[in-house]
Amino acid sequence: MAMGPDVVRIAAVSDIHYAKDSHGALQPLFGQITESADVLILAGDLTDYGLAEEAKVLARDLTTTVKIPVVAVLGNHDYESGQVAELVKILADAGVRILDGDTFETHGVGFAGVRGFCGGFGRGALGAWGEPIIKQFVHEAVNEALKLESALARLRTDHRIAILHYAPIRDTVEGESPEIYPFLGSSRLEEPLSRFDVTAVFHGHAHKGKPEGATSKGIPVYNVAHQVLKACYPDRPAFRLFEVRTTVSHTDGVTPIADRRHWGRRSTDRGSAAQQPQEENPSPS
Ligand SMILES: [Fe+2]
Ligand SMILES: [Fe+2]
Repeated sequence: MAMGPDVVRIAAVSDIHYAKDSHGALQPLFGQITESADVLILAGDLTDYGLAEEAKVLARDLTTTVKIPVVAVLGNHDYESGQVAELVKILADAGVRILDGDTFETHGVGFAGVRGFCGGFGRGALGAWGEPIIKQFVHEAVNEALKLESALARLRTDHRIAILHYAPIRDTVEGESPEIYPFLGSSRLEEPLSRFDVTAVFHGHAHKGKPEGATSKGIPVYNVAHQVLKACYPDRPAFRLFEVRTTVSHTDGVTPIADRRHWGRRSTDRGSAAQQPQEENPSPS
């Protein structure tokens, strides 16, 4: 396994759904992440109801435990209470980079993030046709894809990592009820990923989905929903850990690290007891 300053370790998890009473819930997990990774990705649904109070609980747990950069997108739950601006400010004050069509670079790796949107996949994707409300719905997905494209275009790093909440492909939502696939993501998000040949994509939202898939061009897509990780890897802490080799071509991609013997050794090295989040609504997560 490659080690050294040319290797950057990325930890990723999403859908942690912090609630008012979650204080300390993920501190053991955050502690393991800080010991093992150079940067942490949180792919949305950071809070359960999108309440500022919930964000404060999360901010406290992050600031006391996580000592590496945190880069995040918001999820649909973070919008629920109409307190997005306050929520973003609380998390930004805690050092979290919330991406909404923005970019972040660290250790030579670039990150572009958007929430994304739904509308379905492939031939089943909803088209902008008919009633104005349908066009408006589809426009939201198109707009998120455009924001992602423009963020990716601004990155000058060899490695470009995309962070979404909604899935860009069908593969990683499989396991959910087929009836709700159209509400779990949108194929419109896939096109910018291929155009900018991203190294890897991380998303959440599909709590019962599949942990790994790939775009039609072979770009790896990881569903890092906390619930998926707990179900699929019950013998590991509920986050994924990846290595990116910054000195080689992006086509070398990212390598998931499954062997726990290699955890706890941060590669750049400069220098679950977790509470179950509240149950999702039966509607999409
Ligand atoms: Fe969600
Ligand atoms: Fe969720």
